[in-house]
Amino acid sequence: MPSFANPFQGNINRKISKEELIQAVRLDIAGELEAIFVYDAHAMATDDPRAKKILEDIRDEEKAHVGELMELLKILDPREAKFFEEGVQEVREMMEELGNEGFLISEEKKSKALKTVGSLLEK
Ligand SMILES: [Fe+2]
Repeated sequence: MPSFANPFQGNINRKISKEELIQAVRLDIAGELEAIFVYDAHAMATDDPRAKKILEDIRDEEKAHVGELMELLKILDPREAKFFEEGVQEVREMMEELGNEGFLISEEKKSKALKTVGSLLEK
């Protein structure tokens, strides 16, 4: 979150190396995750529907930023991207072991899941 105590903290008087850029992106991702946590907490803490709507919208924008930064990190460091993919595969394997295909929702299941009470009247 904000580091306003030292207004020069973010200033760097040189171009950073690729390794430093990778570290900076990791730090940026952490900042986005923290922002999501804080916006979500504030949205949950208020009953004001206007504030809740705006805070939730901003929170969701931060989630998109995480996705952008993760993709940038994978581009900058393909070796790290392989570790991320390993983690994804491990979770998929564990879900298969549990017989839970729920996280890999097929298009057919999605359309069924999106049906409303009204759609139950359809034949
Ligand atoms: Fe952001």
